[in-house]
Amino acid sequence: MKSIGIITSGGDAPGMNAVLWAAVKAARFRNMKVYGVINGYQGLIDNQIIELNDRDIEGIIDRGGTRLGTARCAAMLTREGQEQAVQNMYAHGIEGLLVAGGDGSYRGARDLTALGVPIVGVPATIDNDLGYTDNCIGFDTACNTAVDCISKIRDTMMSHSRVAVIEVMGRHCGDIALTVGMVGGADYILVPEVEYEKPFDIDNVVQRLSQNRQFGNKSGMVVMAEGVMYEHKNRAELLGQMIVERMPQLDLKVNVLGHVQRGGTPSARDRRYALQMTERAVQLLHHGDTGRVVGIKDSAVMDMPLDDALAVKKVLNESLLRLAHALGQAI
Ligand code: F6P
Repeated sequence: MKSIGIITSGGDAPGMNAVLWAAVKAARFRNMKVYGVINGYQGLIDNQIIELNDRDIEGIIDRGGTRLGTARCAAMLTREGQEQAVQNMYAHGIEGLLVAGGDGSYRGARDLTALGVPIVGVPATIDNDLGYTDNCIGFDTACNTAVDCISKIRDTMMSHSRVAVIEVMGRHCGDIALTVGMVGGADYILVPEVEYEKPFDIDNVVQRLSQNRQFGNKSGMVVMAEGVMYEHKNRAELLGQMIVERMPQLDLKVNVLGHVQRGGTPSARDRRYALQMTERAVQLLHHGDTGRVVGIKDSAVMDMPLDDALAVKKVLNESLLRLAHALGQAI
């Protein structure tokens, strides 16, 4: 392949710019042309495609967000949108696509693959919700940001002997909540995976908070993923109310971390993953070895068929779950 296009799609993730940087560098090494698609799949449909060169990537390796822009694109779910996208791509002489995104972006890639488009996927989403890879680009940075916020909240909670309910991102996946809840020293962690099996029991949350009080803790902390009680817009407030109804003596504060988790300078780890996986993706495209995704397994770069990757169910890390239980951070 001599000419490829790059799309960053879905929610942005810190490290997407490092993907772009690495793609241009790796493509040049192989004398390939690189085109950037503006605003995700929507840009492919709207024919917003530009050729990229060094000037476009200078100084972006450490920038958050995505310089190409991204979007959630409903039109890509239609046959008409998909065909338009393919037509625009070939009109630019683009032979294959590198798609950086999460689960939804991979499904869009599968639709284009069915129309004969050669694609390689690079996992980039703070949710870390792709089961086939140990790590998605952006997850590490999002966890670092959330943990930093949690530490700051703890300082003030301890000073005032308060309890905090902290909501982090993760609509279907509790990886952020589990990781930051654990290393942030939460008393209780709530994740959607467990709630899907059986709704959480508020009495367990309250029991843990009051036990920890009896053990001498002045403050307390519950970390919840946004996927818990997702149907409620003000779910963190609701959880706070449920706790206070049962423990009226508590001074409880609710914090929803929100989009701060998606921004900021990508961590060294996320940048390294971006470089490693993107270089492999460009290599695959160059060889015409497509319909695949790259990932990280046991710290090494791997690739596998896109269909197989999408069939892998994402589950919570069992050993982390066991550790959380062993440390009394009930889930
Ligand atoms: O990118 C994943 C994610 O951050 C989810 O955790 C969250 O539910 C969603 O995106 C928010 O999307 P938006 O920014 O479009 O509201």
